[in-house]
Amino acid sequence: MGEMAFVNGRFLPLAGASVSIEDRGFQFGDGVYEVIRTYRGRPFMLHAHLARLNRSAEAIGLRQPYSLERWTGYMEEGVRLAAFTESKIYVQITRGVAPRDHAYAPQLEPTVVMTIRELHPLSPAVQTAGVDAITLDDIRWGRCDIKSLNLLPNVLARQQAKEAGAFEAILVKNGEVTEGSVSNVIIVDNRTLMTAPEGPRILSGVTREVVLRLARQEGLEVHEQYPSREKLFGAPEVFLTGTTVEVLPVVRIDGKPIGSGEPGPVTRQLAKRFMQQTG
Ligand SMILES: Cc1ncc(COP(=O)(O)O)c(C=O)c1O
Repeated sequence: MGEMAFVNGRFLPLAGASVSIEDRGFQFGDGVYEVIRTYRGRPFMLHAHLARLNRSAEAIGLRQPYSLERWTGYMEEGVRLAAFTESKIYVQITRGVAPRDHAYAPQLEPTVVMTIRELHPLSPAVQTAGVDAITLDDIRWGRCDIKSLNLLPNVLARQQAKEAGAFEAILVKNGEVTEGSVSNVIIVDNRTLMTAPEGPRILSGVTREVVLRLARQEGLEVHEQYPSREKLFGAPEVFLTGTTVEVLPVVRIDGKPIGSGEPGPVTRQLAKRFMQQTG
């Protein structure tokens, strides 16, 4: 059927879907979201994504209107109606519609929106060759663990990366690497992975969690501590994790080669192990 939307319990073609201009998501970014992809037509790590959606909603005092079972049913129905080979599911819950005022009434009815579009994966050539990144100051707020609609710093960072001919912006706060604008950042040195710890300064990625588990199973050590800027540039391997980027090697940062300038063996091994999980 093609691109689908879901608005407050009703499915309709995406092109005809709309919400009020007084929605607080539109006016304040007052809401939370998730992005989930399918592998072989099935939403991947759905429970982890829905658990994070609940945590995000709770953290901003937003009533999450549906149970896990109901969400699962809606997503399966949306994927079936859209009928793409692989789908990208976007879910957004906002505080609802009200005349513009920063403060809100507690009984507002949340607006629940979902879109189902065709997933266009990164080309195998890009996955194999790796990507360029730039570094930028992490100017975001102190609750990056909430997957909030307020993405302006991420938007500006990703755009700066794009204009520099790079794929991702790696964010650095006080000399410490936090994450990317749309991904988590993991560095590899001597069969040890280092990545920022879970907490308010990063979005705790579902893919990050899967990859760290696989790494431990492979006998790699995992240090959840902030890599310094120097460590990032000196690392033999750096890679990104995320729902749409999967495990993506970074081969140049700010124009300087990482390691040999080609994806390293640990990154390739983890990328392979990750793909095995998705089938
Ligand atoms: C800022 C940020 N960090 C990390 C991630 C990766 O999270 P996940 O693996 O759950 O997609 C994302 C994904 O959108 C993100 O926006």
